[in-house]
Amino acid sequence: MLLLTRVVLLSALCAAALGCPRIISRRQWGARPPRNRVPLRTPVPYVIIHHTAGNPCTSQASCSRQVRGIQNYHMDTQRWPDIGYNFLIGEDGNVYEGRGWSTVGAHVMYWSAKSLGFSFLGNFSSRAPNAAALNAAKSLIQCVVSKGFLSRSYFLKGHRNVNPTDCPGNALYKVISRWPRFKGKP
Ligand SMILES: *[C@@H]1O[C@H](CO)[C@@H](O)[C@H](O)[C@H]1NC(C)=O
Ligand SMILES: [Zn+2]
Repeated sequence: MLLLTRVVLLSALCAAALGCPRIISRRQWGARPPRNRVPLRTPVPYVIIHHTAGNPCTSQASCSRQVRGIQNYHMDTQRWPDIGYNFLIGEDGNVYEGRGWSTVGAHVMYWSAKSLGFSFLGNFSSRAPNAAALNAAKSLIQCVVSKGFLSRSYFLKGHRNVNPTDCPGNALYKVISRWPRFKGKP
């Protein structure tokens, strides 16, 4: 019994380490329905990192509020059919489902149909996201590879590597440029 408990506990820990991060579904954060969806041809070869350049958040309630605000801005002001990013990452350690892994995003010029866009909630020009957010993003990358939505031979890029922008902020860019499979130049 004790042994069984240990085995179960150990496999639960492994699943957490190797599997997917906690993903807060659209229903959970209170998303509006999209006006339309274009299916993404997967696996895509690129993952592109952004920051929202807005307020940071460290709880599910405050991150959900941020994500709803970003969706409203993208749908009502930008007139996009939905929130632009495929996923958003909070300093609460949660991942928030945007367009998800099977819908083309609107997060980058020319590259959206061949990439997944992950955006850290906050402004990371002068400080890096906390460990909870960085670990959630790394875990999300492994998760989408294991599910077959991102190629095993993917390349990681910052938004600034493909469009003229400061995104994802100097401090965050410095961190991701040391991650596996980072490729700044096209
Ligand atoms: C992000 O932070 C930087 C430096 O801390 C600041 O200069 C910039 O205006 C901020 N960006 C936004 C969109 O607020
Ligand atoms: Zn960006």
